Amino acid sequence: MKAVEWLGDRVRILDQTQLPQKEVYLELGRHQDIASAIKALKIRGAPAIGVAGGYAIALGALKIKASSKAEFLHELKDVTRQIAATRPTAHNLPLALERMQRAAEAVKDVEQIKKALVSEAIAIHNEEAEATLKLSKLGAELIKDGFTVLTHCNTGPLATAGYGTALGVIRQATEQGKKLRVLATETRPLLQGARLTAWELKEFNIPFSLITDSMAGYFMSKGEVDCVIVGADRIAANGDTANKIGTYTLAVLAKENNIPFYVAAPITTIDPALASGAQIPIEFRSPGEVTHIQGVPIAPKGIEALNPAFDVTPHPFITAIITEGGIIGEPYEEGIKKIYGNLSP
Ligand code: MRU
Repeated sequence: MKAVEWLGDRVRILDQTQLPQKEVYLELGRHQDIASAIKALKIRGAPAIGVAGGYAIALGALKIKASSKAEFLHELKDVTRQIAATRPTAHNLPLALERMQRAAEAVKDVEQIKKALVSEAIAIHNEEAEATLKLSKLGAELIKDGFTVLTHCNTGPLATAGYGTALGVIRQATEQGKKLRVLATETRPLLQGARLTAWELKEFNIPFSLITDSMAGYFMSKGEVDCVIVGADRIAANGDTANKIGTYTLAVLAKENNIPFYVAAPITTIDPALASGAQIPIEFRSPGEVTHIQGVPIAPKGIEALNPAFDVTPHPFITAIITEGGIIGEPYEEGIKKIYGNLSP
C-alpha cells in the first residue's frame, strides 16, 4: 500500500478517491497533475500532501529549461505557487515547499539544483515516514490492552505516505500484542473513515466497527470508549489543533464524558508561527460534496450547503499531543518550544 512513490521522472500515487472499490495507481509526470490530484483528494492527508508537494516541485524543476540560476529560480517560484494554492490547511505542505526552495537556493548551477531538489523531495518522504513510525511507537504507550479506541477521518499509510499518525499509534499498540477494538467514524462528507480507514484496518487485521459521526456520543456516554485519538493538519504554538471537520465535536464529547483525547502528528504539522488556532486557514470545499455522496444527489436540487473541511479543537480539550519528539501536555506552548529546542543543533 504505497500512497506516493517517486519513479525517477514521474510519481506514482494510489488514487484514494476510488478506494475501496478499486485500487487504481496513477503515474503523474507533471507538477500540474500532482496539483490537480491534491485538490481532488486523490492524494490526501497532511503528511502525504507534504510529500507529494516535494515531489511536485522536483518534477516541475526537471522540466524547467532555463540555464541561469536566477531564471531557473524565477520559474521555480511559479511551480511552487501552483502547488501552494492547492490546499491551505495542512502545515506539512507549505513547510515542504519552503524546504524545497531552500534546497534550490543552496546550490550553484541549474543541473545541481535539479539533483538537489530530487534528493530533497526523497529526504522529505523518508523523514516523514520515520517520524510517523517513531511517534506511533511513543504513542502506543498510552493505549492499554483491551482498550476501545475511537478515531476519526483517515490517518494511516494512505494519509501519511509513511506508517500513520493516529492509526499508526493504533497499529503499533496491536503490533505490541495489545488487543484493541476500534470505532472508526465514517467522516462525512467525503467518508475518509468509511472508505479508507475501514480499508486500512481490514488490511491490518485490527478488529473495528464503523459508526456514523453522530453515533460517537452514544458510545462515549455508554462507557464504551477508552480514548479518542485523531491526527492533525496544523497545530498552533499553543496546541490548538486543526483537523478534519467533526474533530472539535468529538473533543467536546470526550471532555464531557471524561475520556482522554489524543492528537498524533509529526512535528512538521506544528506551525510555531501561529499563536493560536484562530489563525489557521480553514479550507472550504465545494457544497456539492455535501449535497451529493459519490456523485449521487441526496438533497433537493439548488439548495445551499456549507462545507468547511476542517475545524479547530482548542488546546484545553486535548489531553496530549503525540509527536516523534515526545508526548506533550499542558502547557503546550512550553512543550512545543522544548521540542523545537531539541531539534536545533
Ligand atoms: O481532507 P483530508 O482527507 O486531507 O483530511 C485529512 C485529515 O484531516 C487527517 O485527519 C489528517 O491529515 C491527519 S494526519 C494523517
